[in-house]
Amino acid sequence: MTLAELIRRIPKAELHLHIEGTLEPELMMALARRNHITLPYADINEIRSAYEFSNLQSFLDIYYAGARVLQTERDFYDLTYAYLERAAQDNVRHVEIFFDPQTHTERNVSFRKVIDGICSALHKGEDDLGISSRLIMCFLRHLSAADALATLEEALPFKDRITAVGLDSSEVGHPPSKFAAVFDRARSQGLLTVAHAGEEGPPAYIVEALDLLKVRRIDHGVRCLEDPALLARLVKEQVPLTVCPLSNVKLRVFKTLAQHNLKRLLDAGLCVTVNSDDPAYFGGYVGENYLRCQETLGLDADDIHALARNSFQASFLDDADKARHIRELDALVSEMTNRRSGPA
Ligand code: HPA
Ligand code: ZN
Repeated sequence: MTLAELIRRIPKAELHLHIEGTLEPELMMALARRNHITLPYADINEIRSAYEFSNLQSFLDIYYAGARVLQTERDFYDLTYAYLERAAQDNVRHVEIFFDPQTHTERNVSFRKVIDGICSALHKGEDDLGISSRLIMCFLRHLSAADALATLEEALPFKDRITAVGLDSSEVGHPPSKFAAVFDRARSQGLLTVAHAGEEGPPAYIVEALDLLKVRRIDHGVRCLEDPALLARLVKEQVPLTVCPLSNVKLRVFKTLAQHNLKRLLDAGLCVTVNSDDPAYFGGYVGENYLRCQETLGLDADDIHALARNSFQASFLDDADKARHIRELDALVSEMTNRRSGPA
């Protein structure tokens, strides 16, 4: 058994995935053609060569521009199903998908079209690919709290299809505290909460997300190592971090993957998970994130096993489903690792 084989074969969950960030250049071109939209790129190579980012904002500018090709319910269906087919190749069994309604409603694409398209693909993915899912609605933090609250009210008629709300987009200057009232309202309606924090923003934003937004997980959170008291709290409470290593390198949170703190986070006793964030833009789906980290950071079979176990443990699945996935994972790992240590 090689570790690459182990990574490919273990069942895993993906918990930090922006559906708009799975828009591959090929689909972007096809949807532009279908919807009669002119892109500022001549061909696929030009699109790919535009994906050179210096920080989060330089990525977001291109990402929001790309999302303009998404217009109809079918576009959202095609986008989501293409992601699920790709995730199935990495043996992803459960996904918790972010979507950004404001990116679409501000272009007069209705909330209903967005959520109907995504949800019909998620249902087909469950039936045909065996991938279960949850949906997390993110607010764009560079927009106002009033705008987020209006989006929440628009979403409430669909709340049986939404598990949690989250917070994404430009982090620095837009602390979690800005959205405390919106998240209060979301929780009062039975929605769970998560938030991007400590990607580019300071550890204090992670503390705010925990104390003011009452989040169940921190998305990214890699800057927690700068604050020992926060680190101790995250370990004690086992607050999961949804870490996205290749994203962090592309957006220059770390200069190189070798400098990424994933292994240090794991060794500190945190509940760390590995995810792809916006794989069409960052050059790797979840399996590739595991593999590149294994090679570059020297992860061993126990580390990989822990990351996959954490992915189910940190999910919003119920306890019985978590236990079922983890049993299957444990059995596979023990079968594969025993074979390695047994006679040739
Ligand atoms: N950070 C903030 N906003 C985002 C990201 C991210 O990594 N990806 C998509 N929107
Ligand atoms: Zn993200």
